[in-house]
Amino acid sequence: MKLLKPHVTYIPAYVDALQRGWSPDNLRSEAAQEQLAKISEDAVSFVSDLDDPAASAGPVTLPDGSQVPRLPSIRRWIWEDGFCGHIGLRWKPGTQELPATCSGHIGYAVVPWRQGEGLATAALSAILPEAKAIGLNYVEITTSPENPASVRVIEKAGGVLVKSYMAEEALGGHETLQFQIPLAK
Ligand SMILES: CC(C)(COP(=O)(O)OP(=O)(O)OC[C@H]1O[C@@H](n2cnc3c(N)ncnc32)[C@H](O)[C@@H]1OP(=O)(O)O)[C@@H](O)C(=O)NCCC(=O)NCCS
Repeated sequence: MKLLKPHVTYIPAYVDALQRGWSPDNLRSEAAQEQLAKISEDAVSFVSDLDDPAASAGPVTLPDGSQVPRLPSIRRWIWEDGFCGHIGLRWKPGTQELPATCSGHIGYAVVPWRQGEGLATAALSAILPEAKAIGLNYVEITTSPENPASVRVIEKAGGVLVKSYMAEEALGGHETLQFQIPLAK
């Protein structure tokens, strides 16, 4: 498994996943069609906006349609014999904390036809050194109690349950589990 920085070279495999119905946003299925439209307009800008440590790509749209300022982020494509999914890391400069409208430092998804191969587990462990390198002492990851595969991925990476709470209405208002993975000093 490799984590690749998004690049136009790999865009046909990414487009194929979107066309097969995979949504890059776990909370918004319409993100697939939105991204296909952006790619057909300007694929180069699309990939450069995905990996955005300067937070220059404009506001983030939440599940209720509201928008919040974008945090700095990096995005990597999970690649093994083709495009398998993605993993992203976002952070608020100068603090370990995140705004309430940001559901964790790390988010990931594996396309349904490549799930169960250990790819999310490998991708999560591969991105943790990048989180440490930007100065985080821990990462926060949230998931649903109805997503046992994601809970397992987090636990295999050393995640410890911190709390269970109801997410902000703007994020859908669902029961949410918050985990922390400490990053070794
Ligand atoms: C969650 C997700 C990323 C997991 O990806 P994956 O590459 O299949 O994960 P892995 O193969 O690395 O590990 C999955 C683990 O969950 C376990 N698992 C899968 N389905 C499960 C279930 N229904 N109940 C319990 N455990 C389950 C697997 O057995 C495996 O654990 P193991 O290695 O101990 O056997 C993937 O299912 C996905 O993309 N889902 C949709 C998006 C999503 O939910 N993202 C996370 C949002 S927080």
